Amino acid sequence: MPEKMPTRAPRLGLLIMLLSVGSAVGLGVAFFAVLGNVPNPQRLMTPMVVTMPPQLTGSIEARVAAADPSKGAAVFEKYACNACHRAEDGVGPALTGMGKRAALRRPNYSPAAYIYESIIEPNAFIVPDYANVMVSNYKAKISEVELFDLIAWLLQQ
Ligand code: HEC
Repeated sequence: MPEKMPTRAPRLGLLIMLLSVGSAVGLGVAFFAVLGNVPNPQRLMTPMVVTMPPQLTGSIEARVAAADPSKGAAVFEKYACNACHRAEDGVGPALTGMGKRAALRRPNYSPAAYIYESIIEPNAFIVPDYANVMVSNYKAKISEVELFDLIAWLLQQ
């Protein structure tokens, strides 16, 4: 009887090995399936990637320069930004001085690029001492023309 024992242990070992190889392959397949579904940044609302490497900020600058800041206040109201951003600090940072602060928040970001990212991908950077509560679906709602008019106006605040 005892001589049968040794044959069982290797079989169990083989089974465990096969199971772990199988689950590793399964995980790999799941991983690539998820990766494959990540939207191509080029398909997002603008041709820029959302969290922009500094070398892409130039095109945001150009669009902001071509925008109409005098229309920005209306966009700010239309999308109820003023529910959280008033003259003074409140739920969100103050509107007053936003343009100047935008230059200081993220290294290597132009002020326009920072404001762009703050609106389109608010979770990319959370202003210290604030809660992560900003509405995060503006990229689905706001038109490009509105967005750049809004950014141009915010830079003047
Ligand atoms: C529900 C409240 C809320 C709404 C609505 C909201 N925000 Fe914000 N916003 C915040 C909070 C809180 C922060 C700071 C935390 C963070 O970085 O997400 C913030 C951060 C910002 C910043 C960065 C400010 C800084 O000082 O660095 C900008 C720019 C901004 N929001 C613009 C907008 C614009 C434009 C809209 C409308 C299209 C808007 N927000 C709507 C709450 C809001």
